[in-house]
Amino acid sequence: MSTEFLPATQSSAGRTSTTAEPATDPARFEADALVVFLSTDGIGQGAAASLDQATSGLLHQLIKQGDLTGKPCECVSLFAPMGLACQQLLVVGVGATAELNAGLLYRAAATAARQLASRPRQRIGFLAEGSWTNEQLEQAVAGGAVGMVGQDLYRAEKRQHPFSATVWLGAPVEVVRRGKLIADGVNLARRLVNLPPDDLYPETFAEEAATIAGRVGLEIEIWDQPRLERERCRALLAVARGSARPPRLVLLHYRGSGHSDTRPDLALVGKGVTFDSGGLSLKPSEGMVAMKCDMAGAAAALGAIATIAALRLPLHVVVAVGLVENMNGSAAYKLGDVVTARSGTTIEIHNTDAEGRVVLADVLDVVSDLKPQRIVDAATLTGACMVALGRDIAGLFTNNQACCDAVRDAAEAVGERVWQLPMDRQFDDQILSDVADIKNIGDGRLGGAITAAKLLERFVREIPWTHIDIAGPAFADKPSPWIAGGGTGAMVRPFVELARQLSR
Ligand code: BES
Ligand code: MN
Ligand code: ZN
Repeated sequence: MSTEFLPATQSSAGRTSTTAEPATDPARFEADALVVFLSTDGIGQGAAASLDQATSGLLHQLIKQGDLTGKPCECVSLFAPMGLACQQLLVVGVGATAELNAGLLYRAAATAARQLASRPRQRIGFLAEGSWTNEQLEQAVAGGAVGMVGQDLYRAEKRQHPFSATVWLGAPVEVVRRGKLIADGVNLARRLVNLPPDDLYPETFAEEAATIAGRVGLEIEIWDQPRLERERCRALLAVARGSARPPRLVLLHYRGSGHSDTRPDLALVGKGVTFDSGGLSLKPSEGMVAMKCDMAGAAAALGAIATIAALRLPLHVVVAVGLVENMNGSAAYKLGDVVTARSGTTIEIHNTDAEGRVVLADVLDVVSDLKPQRIVDAATLTGACMVALGRDIAGLFTNNQACCDAVRDAAEAVGERVWQLPMDRQFDDQILSDVADIKNIGDGRLGGAITAAKLLERFVREIPWTHIDIAGPAFADKPSPWIAGGGTGAMVRPFVELARQLSR
């Protein structure tokens, strides 16, 4: 089964397969390792119980001794277990049964996979619990396929070794296939974020998008510099001017069955600053070192639409990403410059490091022309959002509560954390300029994530819109139990889930 849409040669996962064997007896399953999930409520009557029986009560024994608890993401390895055909049994905790959800299973499966991937393995089995919903199983499958992939793209000696074959036992083929396609979207976004900025820049991002579009069947339009000039995308072009790398705007259309020439049900917009030096408002090294992650919103939108297309969801989705490198070359845009955005709004530049909103001003205007039912953008927009919500929680901002609630529900359903921040009118005044219609920063640093969102709001006309500030969750400086450091693929799963909710 070759459902993988990641370019195999470039993926750190290389050639890997994920399949389902609904009817195989887990005790007789030959593998380098078998993963079984355990709750804090004990063994129950499902998959764990069948292994306990095959091992003459080994799991019961270990629980009694206190060596096994089932706490979320706890991993206990049993080697050469008597009565089983696998070489290693890995028991991973999922917490209390009453609190079980898709997000916990994603992280538990990812933790197990990440641990097993620390050395090369051929064949790994995962044992699905019959009591899980299809949505929970799908996220567990996704977690298994994400956790095994590392960020060591350029290391000769890999830290993580994706399994040649992953087999889900006791799981329906269709659900496993969907979980793997979700993981492909997440891993695509992660890989794009993890690529160094001199390898991934606007043109190469656009080429990657074209490759993916060909693979899953998406319409693609790539706007180069002359086209951007004809379209009067002068805000986006202003940010790009300091770089030797020319900018791109990429539009992707997925038209699901029965939705060929309708208004898009959903527009996904992504900030694609392939490197953010800050421009003339130059960042210090500590603030710049991770700024290859500043295209994570664009990567999430691309990863999501690729999965949505591979899943053949019945709706019309459009993706638009603005790709620029924010540099301080001799043609760079300057403080005090006034740029006229595509919409006609004039923006006075007070800080060239507040570039994401300037780029998105034009991308949102382009997307608004397509009259989508709703727009959701993801952007690594502000350090202020991390000050407010920390590293793991994305900020939500909206002009339409129903739209925002849908985004929140989708994120919650797959276990990604989001939190809505207010959009009170007072903040509108903060971005007024004496010279132009607006300026690109607020007064001082307070409420900086909100003033940024307020600028974006001016470019979506009256279309229901939600902005997601992913400055925190998009990139991890350190590894966690379930994922390597680097790009996390934040918002890919929520976007896919949102599309699914909308197509119901
Ligand atoms: N890309 C940054 C925001 C960011 C910071 C993302 C940390 C991920 C981690 C953005 O372009 C930026 O520089 N924002 C400035 C805005 C300020 C100049 C108003 C910031 O947050 O400091
Ligand atoms: Mn910046
Ligand atoms: Zn930026």
